[in-house]
Amino acid sequence: MSALFRIDNLHARPVADDEADSPSEILRGVDLVIAPGEVHAIMGPNGCGKSTLASTLLASPEYEVTEGRIVFRDEDITDWSTDVRAKAGMFLAFQYPQEIAGVSVIQFLRQALSARKGVDLSVLELRLAAMDWMKRLGMDSSFVDRYLNEGFSGGEKKRNEIMQMAILEPEFAVLDETDSGLDIDALRIVAKGIREVRTDRPSLGILLITHYQRLLDELRPDHVHIMVDGRIVRSGGMEVAAELEKNGYEAYRD
Ligand SMILES: Nc1ncnc2c1ncn2[C@@H]1O[C@H](COP(=O)(O)OP(=O)(O)OP(=O)(O)O)[C@@H](O)[C@H]1O
Ligand SMILES: [Mg+2]
Repeated sequence: MSALFRIDNLHARPVADDEADSPSEILRGVDLVIAPGEVHAIMGPNGCGKSTLASTLLASPEYEVTEGRIVFRDEDITDWSTDVRAKAGMFLAFQYPQEIAGVSVIQFLRQALSARKGVDLSVLELRLAAMDWMKRLGMDSSFVDRYLNEGFSGGEKKRNEIMQMAILEPEFAVLDETDSGLDIDALRIVAKGIREVRTDRPSLGILLITHYQRLLDELRPDHVHIMVDGRIVRSGGMEVAAELEKNGYEAYRD
């Protein structure tokens, strides 16, 4: 089966403030192949480069690719902007600004959907779909009229992300620490939400960054990777996460 998403020998570093400066690489040769429908989890110690990878996949202007490439559905997207990636079907939860003054959840979804699909869903249809997902994710339907992330609790933000993912219908999603700050019930609800999105879209590929076994127990990823120092140093199945839970990262450090 051809890959949905592929990362070949990816190197990236922060963009320097002044030209004389050349910051060292944070990503130092990441390889990853994700087939349609697969969930891949990346785990790794603080500071190993997980969020940098997520930001680089999002084409954040904060980082530059110095070597290697990113391939999405057989196209080299290394030079594509965030917008073009989103339109092509990549979902990057945090591409959406933390707070946008004066834009409600529903208004934002409408814009994002129109950018993604080039169609304008009627406000009513969208409202119903959003309210349905809010309910499925255990949130009050009145959230659709709240301003985006303004005063949202950590757990509400994460659920809102999953709701966006459900409605934008991406082909490939990157979720960075979807479980951080969730209470145990919320974690289950969010995991259930992700499973439902997968059921609706069986070909959706997901790259999931997490520190905890718990979300993995709920989502049963197909592959678990360990990243240390900007490289993937181990890949396997759920046994990798179990080992990690037991022994920590010690064995992987130089
Ligand atoms: N823009 C930047 N400028 C300078 N250093 C950076 C920049 N972005 C990231 N770094 C550094 O690169 C390293 C990797 O950071 P990153 O946020 O990718 O780690 P992470 O694996 O997501 O960690 P965590 O588990 O704590 O979320 C860290 O040492 C961080 O300080
Ligand atoms: Mg991080």
